[in-house]
Amino acid sequence: MIVGPIARVDLGALRHNLAVCRAAAPKSRIWAVIKADAYGHGIGHCAAALKDANGFAVARVQEALGLRAIGISKPLLVMEGVANATELGAVLSMRVELTVHASWHLDLILSQLQTNPQPTPQRVWLKLDTGMGRLGLHQAEAIALIERVRALASAQAPSAPLLELAGIMTHLANADDPTHPMTGEQCEQARALAERFGLPVSIGNSAGVLAHPAARSDWVRPGIMLYGGSPLLNRSAKALDLRPVMTLSSQLIAVREMAAGTLIGYGSTYRCPEAMRVGVVAIGYGDGYPRHAPTGTPVLIRGQRAALLGRVSMDMISVDLRQVPDAAVGDPVLLWGQGLAVEEVAEQVGTINYELLCRLSSRVRMVHDDGAMQAHTQEPRS
Ligand SMILES: Cc1ncc(COP(=O)(O)O)c(C=O)c1O
Repeated sequence: MIVGPIARVDLGALRHNLAVCRAAAPKSRIWAVIKADAYGHGIGHCAAALKDANGFAVARVQEALGLRAIGISKPLLVMEGVANATELGAVLSMRVELTVHASWHLDLILSQLQTNPQPTPQRVWLKLDTGMGRLGLHQAEAIALIERVRALASAQAPSAPLLELAGIMTHLANADDPTHPMTGEQCEQARALAERFGLPVSIGNSAGVLAHPAARSDWVRPGIMLYGGSPLLNRSAKALDLRPVMTLSSQLIAVREMAAGTLIGYGSTYRCPEAMRVGVVAIGYGDGYPRHAPTGTPVLIRGQRAALLGRVSMDMISVDLRQVPDAAVGDPVLLWGQGLAVEEVAEQVGTINYELLCRLSSRVRMVHDDGAMQAHTQEPRS
């Protein structure tokens, strides 16, 4: 056995979680959000497994081009839109739907389409800033753009429109808190604008879909819930019927008897309170395990919880084996996933499930398991 961390990706769980989204928002079409390498789960495998999604949403043009390059033919949405003329030129013929979050976007798209007309109209989503305060048009800007596109369409031959307004989209700032009053207001603003112009609307992320009925819009954009992460502050993934997709594990590479008073790891931040067995696990921040994980962060060995001790090194962590007396060199050690929720580890570390899942390094082997189909191992990515 080759020693080192492995991230097992359960594609059956991914499909189950998509079905949970479908059941929560049965009238919505689903952009499955697979940006950032499908939240660290391998974008190609995840896109292939998510056949029941209506389309895929990514953050950047580069990600959309990558999906087309591997033969993904479903509708694609670039949520950050294009950054410049080069990016636009690269996607124009790729049937990629673009977010327009500034009026210069529309100028750029129209000027390129006029010199380089496409066989089908370019679909654009106007992004309305309803309170996120990040990307987006203010209400008045959005209205001006819609009126401009409509005026242009009526001036053109109806057979050859350059552009199609696909809808209004907005992003929720506080949907992780089911009681937050801002979410209802954001949904209301986006819905009112869409209704006024008879356009579809896209609002809900995972938290919106699961906790806010008004966010179950014509199109929803779930991300974290597909990977089995809870998007809500006060609900576990299990309570939401979400199954963990990634299980990260490694192995014990040493089991040592330490005398009382022994200091563990860099900075000598942990002192053994008694004679005890300490295990060393082959995972560290060089693999993407969080360096700030404190003493006490749980891992699972032989189905028992064991606590991390001292500082996380680049390649190793130390763990307390007092609760796992039979632990032996070679034992698998589970860092998160099936049996230990990534949210629990994230909370200990002071971060969120999203960050832990996204940050594994290319040194971690990924195994994509598709149930009946053979598992596909991807050797460490370089
Ligand atoms: C614009 C937009 N929509 C949808 C999502 C998906 O969000 P979540 O992973 O919380 O479901 C994101 C993620 O950051 C996003 O930026």
